[in-house]
Amino acid sequence: SRVAVLISGRGSNMAALIYASRAEDCPYEVAMVTGDKPDADGFEIARAEGVATEALNARELGASYWTRLQQLLEAASIDLVALAGFMRIIPEEFVAKWDGRMVNIHPSLLPRHKGLKSHEACLAAGDKFSGATVHLVSPDVDGGEILGQVEVAVLSNDTPDSLAERVLIAEHQLYPDTVIRYLNRTRDFDWITNKVGELAL
Ligand code: GRF
Repeated sequence: SRVAVLISGRGSNMAALIYASRAEDCPYEVAMVTGDKPDADGFEIARAEGVATEALNARELGASYWTRLQQLLEAASIDLVALAGFMRIIPEEFVAKWDGRMVNIHPSLLPRHKGLKSHEACLAAGDKFSGATVHLVSPDVDGGEILGQVEVAVLSNDTPDSLAERVLIAEHQLYPDTVIRYLNRTRDFDWITNKVGELAL
């Protein structure tokens, strides 16, 4: 499968997806890295790794950004879009086009602590566990079907930053792992009707 990774910043989850794709039995390749901010740090990593990048500037493109992005994804025959620290709310029309074929990673045990500042929220709630979630993107932000989750214990002296740092380690394992499981499970996924067929086990 051909995966496009969408970033807005650092790109450490993007890097994890690229590195995992090099295992011999990996069912996907990262065919493109794109995003909404041309100066996102992750682009330099992607280029150095020999992955094609398309640095769109969403602020300059305005409403045409989503049309342009769709064109790029179609031109590259992308099967699956993986959001990795992509900080833009996605219009419903675009979400609908990629129904079942767009995933996101969120640094909490969804449905707990949706949205930004999830580590602050986790500590404020006194949770004993945080974690990371990979889910399908649906019109409900951070509310799509959960595909994979991993727990990370909260330490008594954790700050939002120290917790984020450990959750990130878990994210880097969870994201490629979940994408691989999803792609393997949906080998008979019909990309036209967006329906999962009978599994040929
Ligand atoms: C990650 O914590 C991810 O869960 C969240 O934003 C952060 C992105 O980090 N959505 P990176 O750009 O992948 O390093």
